[in-house]
Amino acid sequence: MAIGTWFAALVAASSMGVSALPTQSKDVRDVNFAIPSALTSSHLYGAPANNFSCTSSRNPVVMLHGLSASREVDLNLLQYELNNRGYCTFSLTYGAHPIPSWIGGLDDMTKSAKQIAGFIHEVKQKTGATKVDIVGHSEGGVQSIYVPMTQDGIADIVEHIVALGPAVHGATYFGFTDLWYTGGDLTRALVGQLLDVVGCPACEQLAVDGLVTNQFTQAAKIAQPGNKVTVIGSTKDTLVPVEVSTIDEPDVNNVLVQTTCPDDPVGHAGLAWDRSVWRLIVNALEETDEEVYKCEQGLPF
Ligand SMILES: *[C@@H]1O[C@H](CO)[C@@H](O)[C@H](O)[C@H]1NC(C)=O
Repeated sequence: MAIGTWFAALVAASSMGVSALPTQSKDVRDVNFAIPSALTSSHLYGAPANNFSCTSSRNPVVMLHGLSASREVDLNLLQYELNNRGYCTFSLTYGAHPIPSWIGGLDDMTKSAKQIAGFIHEVKQKTGATKVDIVGHSEGGVQSIYVPMTQDGIADIVEHIVALGPAVHGATYFGFTDLWYTGGDLTRALVGQLLDVVGCPACEQLAVDGLVTNQFTQAAKIAQPGNKVTVIGSTKDTLVPVEVSTIDEPDVNNVLVQTTCPDDPVGHAGLAWDRSVWRLIVNALEETDEEVYKCEQGLPF
């Protein structure tokens, strides 16, 4: 990838409390990566358990978190909400380094894609559903499109795909902020230390000229036949601008938050928690335009 891009990302990251280049000079075991209570005590923390006995008239929904987040932090609140609406939802923390296993999405995205494909097969098989839906945020949004494009047999068993702010065309800054926000300065510092010691293959692969970005650029078609793909972007997202997330293919529905909620200042991380966005997600899954939730003011970052 372009060093300039990586450097720009680091400069941006530094301003958020992360300082050093990933040097891999320290050993990961030298750092205490125990899960901090500042994170687990947050009201934004914690996802429902995967319950394969769950039954619903709707497709089961697999939820994919963003970079540096996890199944417990990011789409977890939406997951509870979808459960309340009668959906069965399932999530995993993908792409985590073994230590700590609670910070996901950093690992090689081609490996994560296989992990996610395995999980989608498991959900389909254990629930007995014909089709599975996917909702992903940030890197998880990228994976929601990348997995059906690259993993055998997935496009055929997926119906709806909803991607929130996916950096399909090359990130210049990455969706780090979800976990950092939830755990405050403490988790920000931890993610910084983790990047120092284990690096972040996914960061490079999502960047301009990164492996995954180039695979999308070279693909004859990004959205796969039979998949109903919705990309949700905010005009106020400065981390993954709308030009970076839009998939310009006739069968992809690119939706802007501000079309239904013109005054919503929601930024990249905030897409996960904003009811203006949740409405668009439910609309995509149910193929309606019902005002499921009123517009609200999402987090501006
Ligand atoms: C899992 O779902 C089934 C069916 O809805 C329910 O009876 C059971 O209590 C659930 N298990 C847990 C641990 O929530």
